Amino acid sequence: MNKDQISIVILAAGKGSRMKSPKAKVLHSICGKPMLYHIIKSSLEISDDITVVVAHQKDAVIEQISSFFEKINFVIQDADNFPGTGGAMMGINPQHEKVLVLNGDMPLITSDALKGFLTTDADIIMSIFDLDDPDGYGRVIIEDGHVQRIVEQKDASVSELKVTTVNAGIYAFSKSVIEKYIPLLSNDNVQEEYYLTDVISMAKADYLNISPLLVDEEKFKGVNSKKDLSDAEVIMQDKIKAHWMNAGVIMQLPSTIYIEEGVTFEGECIIENGCRLTGNTLIQNSHIKAGSVVEDSIVKNSDVGPLAHLRPASYLEDTHIGNFVEVKKSSLKGVKAGHLSYIGDAQIDEGTNIGAGVITCNYDGIKKYQTIIGKNVFIGSDSQLVAPVQIEDDVMIAAGTTVTSGKIEKGSLALSRTKLKTIKDFYYKFFRK
Ligand code: UD1
Ligand code: CA
Repeated sequence: MNKDQISIVILAAGKGSRMKSPKAKVLHSICGKPMLYHIIKSSLEISDDITVVVAHQKDAVIEQISSFFEKINFVIQDADNFPGTGGAMMGINPQHEKVLVLNGDMPLITSDALKGFLTTDADIIMSIFDLDDPDGYGRVIIEDGHVQRIVEQKDASVSELKVTTVNAGIYAFSKSVIEKYIPLLSNDNVQEEYYLTDVISMAKADYLNISPLLVDEEKFKGVNSKKDLSDAEVIMQDKIKAHWMNAGVIMQLPSTIYIEEGVTFEGECIIENGCRLTGNTLIQNSHIKAGSVVEDSIVKNSDVGPLAHLRPASYLEDTHIGNFVEVKKSSLKGVKAGHLSYIGDAQIDEGTNIGAGVITCNYDGIKKYQTIIGKNVFIGSDSQLVAPVQIEDDVMIAAGTTVTSGKIEKGSLALSRTKLKTIKDFYYKFFRK
C-alpha cells in the first residue's frame, strides 16, 4: 500500500491523569523528544495524511509538534461534551479509504509494525497481545476464535478481569466503518466516556469482518504512568545504542550510557560508561570518557573527559578536553584544556594550551561577551580572561593573571601579580609554638 492510500489518526487529546503531571502526557519526553514526535515520525513513513486529535493543553501540543513537522492536520476534540477515545474520533475527516487509528501514548511503534495492519484485508484489524499482568488495558473477549468485544478494565466483571488477551490500542478501519459507528457510540459506562473500543461489538453485531493481529508488546507498549515512561525510554535507549554499536561505535557498559534520538556518530568513536549525549550532537572519530555530558555539540578527532561538560553549540576539532572542564558555545581547534576550566563564548585556535583553572569571564550580569584566542598561546593556570578580550598569536599569560584589557598583542607576555611577601617565623608566633 502506498502513502497516498492510508490515513493515520493519532489520539492525543486525553488528560493522562495517571501521569500525575501538569504537562500533557503526549509531550513527555522519551530519548529527548516528545512521545508524540516518535509516533508521528513512524506514521509519516507510511502515510501522507496524518491527523492528530488534541484537546488537553492543545496549544502546547500543536506548537511543539509543528516545530518538528509540517503538514500535520490537527483536530480539536470536544472533550467536555464527548470525552474518551470515541469522542476523539468524532471530528476527524480522513482522506483515504484505509484509516489507521493509534493511541498517542505508544512511542515505541515502528513503521514496520504499522505495515502489519495493511497486509490483511478486513473491515477492522485490531492489535492484541497476551500479558501475564494485563492491568490497565482493555480486555479482548474472544469466543470460538472470534473477537466479540473489548471491555475496559473499569467496566470489566471479575471473570473478564482474568482475561489476559488485551487491546494494544491500534486499529485499522475502513473509512466507512468509522463513518457508520462513531456517531452511534454512547457513554453508558463507568467512566461516562465515549469508547472507540465499543465499535468492535457494534461491528460484530452487524457481522463485519474483525481480524485480530497479534503484536509485539515491546513496540506497542502504552505509556500511562511515569514508570511506563521510564520503561519505554529504556527500550528505546537499547534500540538507539544497538543501532550505533552495529554502525561501529564502541560503548563500555552501554546500559549506563544515555544517547538521545538525533545524536549521530561517524568513524571510530569510543563512548565510556556513564556518558550522556543529547540534542543534535555529532561525534566523529572521538573518545568521550567516563561521566561526560555532551549537549547539542560537534566533536571531531578529539577526546573529552572524564567528567567534562560540553554545553550547546560547542565545536571541538583535534582538541583535548580533560576532567572538570565546561565548554559552552565555543569553537576550539587544536586546543588542549586539561583540567578545571570554564570556556564560554570563546574561539580558540591551534596549538593553544589552556592551563588548569582558567576561566573565561563571559558575563557581566547583563550581557555575554566573546573571548578570542589565537594560535600557540599559553594561558597559565588560574587565569581569568575578562571578556570581551582578544589574545593574539604566540602570547603567554602568566599563571594567576587577570586579563582585563581588550587586546594582548602578538608575541607578548601578560602578567598581573602582586609581589610575594614572606614573613619569617610568622607560623610559630601565631600558634605560640
Ligand atoms: C486505551 C483503550 C484500551 C487499550 C489501551 C491500550 C479505550 C477506551 N481504551 O485505554 O482498550 O487496552 O488504550 O494502550 O480506547 N485520548 C483522547 N481523547 C480522550 C481520551 C483519550 O484523544 O478523550 C487519547 C489519549 O491522549 C491517549 C489515547 O487516546 O493517547 C488513549 O487514551 P488512554 O486514556 O491512555 O486510554 P487507555 O485507558 O490506556
Ligand atoms: Ca493508554
